[in-house]
Amino acid sequence: MAEQKAKGKKQAARQKGKGLDVGTAFIVCAEQKGDVVSFRSQRDGFFDVEYGEFAREMLTRAGVNYIQKGDSLYVVGNEALEFANVFNREMRRPLRSGVLSPTEREALPMVELVIQRVIGEPSEPGEIAYFSVPDRPVDAELDTVYHEKIVQEMLSKLGYEPKPINEGLAVVFSELADENFTGIGLSLGSGLVNMCLSFMSVPVVSFSVTRAGDWIDHQVAMAMAETATRICAIKESTFDLTKTEGVSRIEKALSIYYDALIDYVLAHMKRELEASERTPRVQKPLTIILSGGSAMPKGFQPRFEERLRATSLPVPIGEVRLVAQPLYSVAKGALVAARADESKR
Ligand SMILES: Nc1ncnc2c1ncn2[C@@H]1O[C@H](COP(=O)(O)OP(=O)(O)OP(=O)(O)O)[C@@H](O)[C@H]1O
Ligand SMILES: [Mg+2]
Repeated sequence: MAEQKAKGKKQAARQKGKGLDVGTAFIVCAEQKGDVVSFRSQRDGFFDVEYGEFAREMLTRAGVNYIQKGDSLYVVGNEALEFANVFNREMRRPLRSGVLSPTEREALPMVELVIQRVIGEPSEPGEIAYFSVPDRPVDAELDTVYHEKIVQEMLSKLGYEPKPINEGLAVVFSELADENFTGIGLSLGSGLVNMCLSFMSVPVVSFSVTRAGDWIDHQVAMAMAETATRICAIKESTFDLTKTEGVSRIEKALSIYYDALIDYVLAHMKRELEASERTPRVQKPLTIILSGGSAMPKGFQPRFEERLRATSLPVPIGEVRLVAQPLYSVAKGALVAARADESKR
């Protein structure tokens, strides 16, 4: 018993293996000490300010992450958003629709710095780090290969052994251990919605669509003649899909576009699942896991379920479950994969 206790205490050391979620809005790292999983996250963005020796010293002293390039200082991560708010300008983002674009090479050092700050150093060279990669978008010409290779290179440079994991599958890994990793993982993010139907941890059908949180912000902003940033701030703070009285024009528009997004996702799920040769023949109803920041407004789960029940998917669906920490489940799933690999070594 005493030994167990001592062992328990010892376990407080970090266990090997890390999970990284490289997203359009946030970069998140998950790691484990004993039974406790902890997370670190940063905004995936940057903001440029004019170079000045005084400004540079200030930033250094305040512990702000920045990069100096030519006549500019680029503030990266969480503070980039603070700067953008103060200057009343948009924060710039290196990823669009879930991926780094080959035409935006300029932003690579910024992403690299955010990744480095979030993941930190490996406990020893070659520690396994699983990183999330988006699935093939079915509604846009977008390539994920470049993105995957670049992130892989960055992690290798930091001393990790990087391994990619499909974003939707990571959600399944995070939440469906008790169901033998069988079910449907949905990650409703900023640039993309990723879906993966997994059977015993093996992806059967998976895809992404390029409509998600950013799309909602953009559509509502256009309809209301507002900036996407302002709409996003309302959406993330006070927006409630269950509200029926005193609903503002913006809230009404957000609700309309939330319905449109859910229907769009469900229509693509139906189409992809029905695509003849891949229609999975499952007997037991599958659990659907809802995760990602766009699943966070109050009332999202019942709204999704209501529209799901009106859709005839070709597979039986059981429970629809919203995860406890929607912004963290992809990183947690990547950690589950990394821990499994490390324990086999
Ligand atoms: N409380 C909230 N209510 C509604 N939306 C939110 C909330 N918090 C964050 N979001 C939205 O969730 C999205 C970010 O979610 P998430 O971190 O899962 O995306 P990501 O992984 O960075 O992006 P992607 O997977 O698309 O590359 C943004 O669109 C953000 O506005
Ligand atoms: Mg994501």
